[in-house]
Amino acid sequence: MSEILESNEEGIKRASEIIRAGGIVAFPTETVYGLGANGLNDTAVIKIFETKGRPADNPLILHIAKKTDLDKIAKSYPAYVKLLIDKFWPGPLSIIVEAKSEIPSAVTAGLKTVAVRMPSHKIARDFIEACGVPIAAPSANISGRPSPTCFDDVCFDLSPKDVPIIKGKPTDIGIESTVVLCTSYPPVILRPGKITREDIARVVGDCNLDIKPKKKPLSPGQKYGHYMAKKPTVLFDMSPKDTDEYIDKHNLNGIYILSKENKPRENSIVLGDYDDADVASRDFFHALRVADTMDGDMIFVQAYSKDGIGLALFERMTKSAKHRILEDKNEDWIW
Ligand code: TXA
Ligand code: MG
Repeated sequence: MSEILESNEEGIKRASEIIRAGGIVAFPTETVYGLGANGLNDTAVIKIFETKGRPADNPLILHIAKKTDLDKIAKSYPAYVKLLIDKFWPGPLSIIVEAKSEIPSAVTAGLKTVAVRMPSHKIARDFIEACGVPIAAPSANISGRPSPTCFDDVCFDLSPKDVPIIKGKPTDIGIESTVVLCTSYPPVILRPGKITREDIARVVGDCNLDIKPKKKPLSPGQKYGHYMAKKPTVLFDMSPKDTDEYIDKHNLNGIYILSKENKPRENSIVLGDYDDADVASRDFFHALRVADTMDGDMIFVQAYSKDGIGLALFERMTKSAKHRILEDKNEDWIW
């Protein structure tokens, strides 16, 4: 059973004591819940990997409470990084820069670089501040599962592991931060998020995107199974109308995660308007977890518009479907 800590001064004080004693604590952020440890303590950081079952070669993000703390972690970075943090911190942007040699290799997974983020969530920042050290934190799920976006989802994954949890509200954004490599110009987005390539390019002039699956990705996390429900999941990358036609034509029975524009069905979860990727992003991971508890052997997901955060949502949906994606309504149904 987990120790449940309230989002108040007393809860945060207790959480910071656990961290300073080398323990781990789950906490809310504006993106998803994180599983934190003292980012300067190798042994504490290793507990995160053991608890999540996370591969050791997948590096962690260090979370800080003040912009100036970046200079305690980064060895060096290009001048444009200042522009990025002035514009987007605190917020859902993780910046990869060259790491100082004292950053534990458990955090960097042996890379010369380190990812740093300053969250905008008040409880998250109060917690980091109270700890007095950078907090290494991946999403607070068991590896491979959807990231937890509410207290109950964190409990589901981490209560069996007795991990203390700071109880907060459901998260606002619902998918993880944009991860951007800032070791040369232009910066390169390795994981899309709420802050888009256009947002970054507007501030620094240019920005590339490198999110296509490949054998040796720059971001080690990109090569593992991610965001998966327990049930097999199929993604319909077509209009709601074509998805409806396809489901009816092939008589596909299961659980449906749909938009308001889809035909209403029993056994479905409706995320919202097809064009409102913000709302769908906020609720998608939780919907996958709910779908696992519903009757049915398979999950059928409607893809959303790819504008803005929609690209990030599409990337998460693609991974949750393990690339089982239907793009053409005339494609055969082969399982
Ligand atoms: O919103 C978020 O970013 C959440 C909250 C808790 O802050 N955290 C999060 O952490 O999503 P995690 O560990 O689940 O994802 C971090 C991603 C992984 O894909 C990892 O491979 C990549 O960032 N990453 C971290 N450090 C890196 C580095 N030095 N070089 C390349 N990729 C890195
Ligand atoms: Mg994660």
